[in-house]
Amino acid sequence: MAQEQVEQGDNKSDETQLVLRVPEHQNYLIAGKPSSIRVYLKMNSITIDISHISKIYQTEAMQTVALDDVSFSISKGEFVAIMGPSGSGKSTLMHILGALDTPTNGTYILDGQNVEKLSDDELADIRNKKIGFIFQAFNLLPRITLLQNVMLPMRYGGMPEKEREEKARQYLEMVGLGKRLSHSSNQISGGQQQRVAIARALVMNPALLLADEPTGNIASAQAEEIMAIFQEINNRGHTIVMITHEPDIAEHSKRIIHVKDGKIIADDRNKKQKKAKRLHTTD
Ligand SMILES: Nc1ncnc2c1ncn2[C@@H]1O[C@H](COP(=O)(O)OP(=O)(O)O)[C@@H](O)[C@H]1O
Ligand SMILES: [Mg+2]
Repeated sequence: MAQEQVEQGDNKSDETQLVLRVPEHQNYLIAGKPSSIRVYLKMNSITIDISHISKIYQTEAMQTVALDDVSFSISKGEFVAIMGPSGSGKSTLMHILGALDTPTNGTYILDGQNVEKLSDDELADIRNKKIGFIFQAFNLLPRITLLQNVMLPMRYGGMPEKEREEKARQYLEMVGLGKRLSHSSNQISGGQQQRVAIARALVMNPALLLADEPTGNIASAQAEEIMAIFQEINNRGHTIVMITHEPDIAEHSKRIIHVKDGKIIADDRNKKQKKAKRLHTTD
């Protein structure tokens, strides 16, 4: 069933309730009582389990302990904010969670698989199909258009070009950049680049979204829009891990982990999750 035909209901623990949108004027036979029909969005969620992770950077001059004995689990469909001062190890943690870097010690189980035991090809496949990244430096390619930048992650699946173009356009419209499809990344502002990076991360419909300061360069109205998009995809069952140093942004998540000097100092459920509103702004 296409993702688009499905509307999500309440997201309860690891089970997402679905409302099926049935086209009008068509006969459907639905077997069983509607209340007993359950569809599991297995593809669209992921679990994370890190245990006693440490990361030590060794340079000629010095040794830096960026992460020091960090353990936590993130279940399918969670929306977690990681907070902490600059230099506390947040980006290092994100690179490890995204299997872009390996820890010095400890174990990382990603969706039931021990990352250490996976081959480079298997890791590349997981990253491409299951994980969307929003990096602190947006990593957009300057010589191609925004539309082409957002089309890039889709280049492996064998999807026809027209379809890839249409999807990229849809996601750029979602982040309010529908009018700038043929601009290049050096013709737009930092905040706009950040939104292109968000569209590019979401276009593959990733089970896990890893975002490093996704609202760092964005005006507050736009930041609210981005948080609304994150909450929408989280309600559809996607797992989100978001790094931020802004308390107002962290309030949109369901759980907040505080790190300091490479250690977790607090890990709490956010009982008053702030609901963001979609404004559908464009610029
Ligand atoms: N590639 C690297 N080589 C050496 N030290 C690094 C490297 N990357 C990060 N560090 C150091 O590790 C610590 C944590 O960095 P980082 O994870 O980027 O923190 P944050 O994202 O919270 O600002 C810092 O002291 C930083 O200087
Ligand atoms: Mg950082």
